[in-house]
Amino acid sequence: MHEYDLIADWYSSERIDQIGIPETVMLLSSIPPGSRILDIGCGNGIPITRALVRAGHTVIGLDSSSAMLERFRDNRPETPIVRGVVQACPFANRIFDAAVAWGVMFHLSRENQIQAIASVSRVLKMVAPFLFTSGDADDFEGKEGVMNGVTFRYFSFSIENYRRILGDQGFTLTDVHKDNGGNTYYVATKTFEGYG
Ligand SMILES: C[S@@+](CC[C@H](N)C(=O)[O-])C[C@H]1O[C@@H](n2cnc3c(N)ncnc32)[C@H](O)[C@@H]1O
Repeated sequence: MHEYDLIADWYSSERIDQIGIPETVMLLSSIPPGSRILDIGCGNGIPITRALVRAGHTVIGLDSSSAMLERFRDNRPETPIVRGVVQACPFANRIFDAAVAWGVMFHLSRENQIQAIASVSRVLKMVAPFLFTSGDADDFEGKEGVMNGVTFRYFSFSIENYRRILGDQGFTLTDVHKDNGGNTYYVATKTFEGYG
């Protein structure tokens, strides 16, 4: 999607909160120090990538927006980044110990979300956790929302549908909860190789 190229400066000035950090810290408590983590839709690298790196992990950022990645490069010059889409993770099989996708999944259509979950499963090692945010009710048409004058669409599955789709792709959904801002957090563990 190109919409984030249009709002990259505005997004950086707005994303000064710590939303998602408690859940990220919780995820970190379940993996050993020095783990290799994929930060999907890493944006400008603040605050999620920064928290992962500060905790002593090796992080690779993946994002589809060149403008967001330019800001990332300014904020985190030493952290490797790759421009690409989560539906087709440009990495070898089973190389990551964990993956985080804050604020990404709900931008993808139903088909693309299924592809994304399959693709993340492919690049994760067994027992690796996957934390992502989305909605919690089926919305396949996509609700419209506007950020700094740019229109975005937001899609979601229900929790039960996410559980089923995750299960089809080798994950077991282990936790679902909401934060005060209405973000729903899904924590899944890769428990077997998915069906692709
Ligand atoms: C709401 S921002 C979240 C950024 C960051 N995770 C944070 O916590 O602020 C969503 C990010 O996902 C990226 N994105 C959107 N669709 C994507 C896709 N299909 N694959 C990878 N990144 C994507 C956008 O470019 C944007 O940087």
